[in-house]
Amino acid sequence: MEIEVKKLNSKYFDDKTEEVLSSLEKTRTEFWNLDRECANFLNMLIKINNSKNVLEIGTSNGYSGIWILKALKETKGKLTTIEFWEKRQSTARKNFAICAPEVSCEPKIGSAVVVLEDILDEIQKNKREKFDFVFIDANKKEYIKYFELVDKMLMAGGVILADNILSHYEKVKDYTENLFSNPNYQSQILDFGTGMMLSRKIKEAF
Ligand SMILES: C[S@@+](CC[C@H](N)C(=O)[O-])C[C@H]1O[C@@H](n2cnc3c(N)ncnc32)[C@H](O)[C@@H]1O
Repeated sequence: MEIEVKKLNSKYFDDKTEEVLSSLEKTRTEFWNLDRECANFLNMLIKINNSKNVLEIGTSNGYSGIWILKALKETKGKLTTIEFWEKRQSTARKNFAICAPEVSCEPKIGSAVVVLEDILDEIQKNKREKFDFVFIDANKKEYIKYFELVDKMLMAGGVILADNILSHYEKVKDYTENLFSNPNYQSQILDFGTGMMLSRKIKEAF
């Protein structure tokens, strides 16, 4: 007989937010959203790390973004989130306005690599601060390209969480292998949800 184990709080936020989250959970597979367990982990990780400047690559309709913004409400931080599909990001913006209107959010529309290059340019010109947390959840084949750019815009001590590591293992293999052999990062694959890779930047590469 299989034992049913309760893994996380069934309800955590205010009624309005829970209503939006449960409605998004009904269409989760259509919009490729995180499951609740992974989203809860993401939310806790940002708070535990006291991250204040978060970058998300792959907004979709804002499900994971809501969990990130809720964490940033506690750490008093800001989210920058990238999506190339305008309609999805406009839905995300509406969801953010309902669930976390008080938290600062900069939605960016465009192809992730192009947007990341622009952001990096701003950081290098001291027009923007480096990030302390990055959540990667867009085109699996591009994870390695995202990393090459993200590495230059992540503070030492910063964290990268990448989704779909086990579900798309072949597509992201160059990413996982690069991280595991990178002396500047400590990494581990987490075997829940679709498999996530957690990487912490130990030091800057010189
Ligand atoms: C897995 S979904 C993101 C789910 C979201 N993080 C969540 O859990 O609610 C990936 C999103 O990335 C977007 N995307 C895919 N490739 C992209 C790219 N090259 N540039 C920008 N966005 C991209 C897709 O349109 C899709 O909405």
